[in-house]
Amino acid sequence: MQVLKVSESKRLSGDIKISGAKNSALVLIAASLLTKESVQISNVPKLTDVYSMIKLLLGIGATISETSNKLLLQTNRIDFLTEKLDVEIVQSLRASFFCIGPLLARFGELRMPLPGGCRIGVRPIDEHLKGLKRLGASVKVEKDHILVKALSPEKRLVGAKVKFNCKSVGATETILMAATLAQGKTIIENSAQEPEIQDLANMLRRMGAKIKGDGTDRIEVEGVDQLKGCSHTVMPDRIEAGTFLIASAITRCPLTISPVIYEHIEAVIFKLEESGCLVKKSDNSISIFPIRDIKSVDITTRPYPGFPTDLQAPFMALMTTAKGTSKIEETIFEKRMHHINELNKMGANIELQGNTAFVVGVKELRPSILQGKDLRACAAIVLASLVARGESIIQGLEHLDRGYENFDMKLNKAGAFISRSRTF
Ligand code: UD1
Repeated sequence: MQVLKVSESKRLSGDIKISGAKNSALVLIAASLLTKESVQISNVPKLTDVYSMIKLLLGIGATISETSNKLLLQTNRIDFLTEKLDVEIVQSLRASFFCIGPLLARFGELRMPLPGGCRIGVRPIDEHLKGLKRLGASVKVEKDHILVKALSPEKRLVGAKVKFNCKSVGATETILMAATLAQGKTIIENSAQEPEIQDLANMLRRMGAKIKGDGTDRIEVEGVDQLKGCSHTVMPDRIEAGTFLIASAITRCPLTISPVIYEHIEAVIFKLEESGCLVKKSDNSISIFPIRDIKSVDITTRPYPGFPTDLQAPFMALMTTAKGTSKIEETIFEKRMHHINELNKMGANIELQGNTAFVVGVKELRPSILQGKDLRACAAIVLASLVARGESIIQGLEHLDRGYENFDMKLNKAGAFISRSRTF
């Protein structure tokens, strides 16, 4: 078991390099299943989730080579009827469900394990399945498997209007990928608008897909007979970027982050500005200059372009050190408050009522032995530990390493005191 030992680090400075987006990379890898030709994806972050996705594809016959942060994926030899998706990986990695759209569109049928539960609450797949049914698939849920079949005589999906009941990033991506190879036109209404969807649409267009409207709540896809190979570079990770801006604010130390697309994290920047930080943008970088007396601000998580749920935990860590009381409401996931117990162990004053946390800023945080219980909760307690007086020990790094590339190394390069060891 690995742990982080984090000591008070109040002199951060310099530049932090932002990696490629985890949430893009995972779906782009799945999208490579849509073509027999080779797909090259650059700027892929080295994360355990990415390696799980690679392992999943290797298990069904894909050939994948990795050099530095570049992947070359070839899925021409997939024999989908005999090879099976690895149950263990599918159950541990929700993003593995992204394979359903491409595999169904290309092979006309598949049986895959149901994705497993998740610590941040029930994450249903009903919108994905409803969309696939609209595109002419039959869906049969067995005990722990799901069987999907394109019903047309050619075993092809057929374009249709798909209207989601809720804004779902994953469901939008599933239907977008499936629709690229469907017969005719698909219209996706109430689609999610996250930048990762645009990144996916950009790669699919390079593969020959006909897509309009990504980034809005109505996407149109004109199905084509086949897609070709392409080269694509993953966009910068907006959640990692936001996490490091918050690292700057919590330590009250200026930092510059790049590459980053300003518009992708505007909602977070507005809140940081409201709390008293000065934020300057130039070309593809952002510099942040925090003030000593950070003010409490309220946040409510919303689908993009609102405040991202993935930054709720790190922002709450910041608010524990602010002046006044902050109200933080989580509206996307029902169990995304695992960090509260840990922050309170450090002397924070947070009260949870339903899915709303009331955070009263405290003068100082104290070190503790802490447990990261999900990815973003783990990042949040690392940030809080940077300003606690003494050494904190953080367990649960398997969550952190799922979604942040070299998190501790990047912070250390900027002047933090973090060490990683096997035991403590
Ligand atoms: C993606 C991101 C995750 C982020 C989340 C919300 C990836 C790999 N993960 O997750 O980091 O926190 O978006 O921005 O991209 N829902 C349904 N039925 C469905 C699907 C979703 O009711 O079929 C609900 C969920 O329970 C949740 C909401 O829709 O309340 C949003 O979930 P969704 O956008 O689908 O999240 P993911 O795609 O799983």
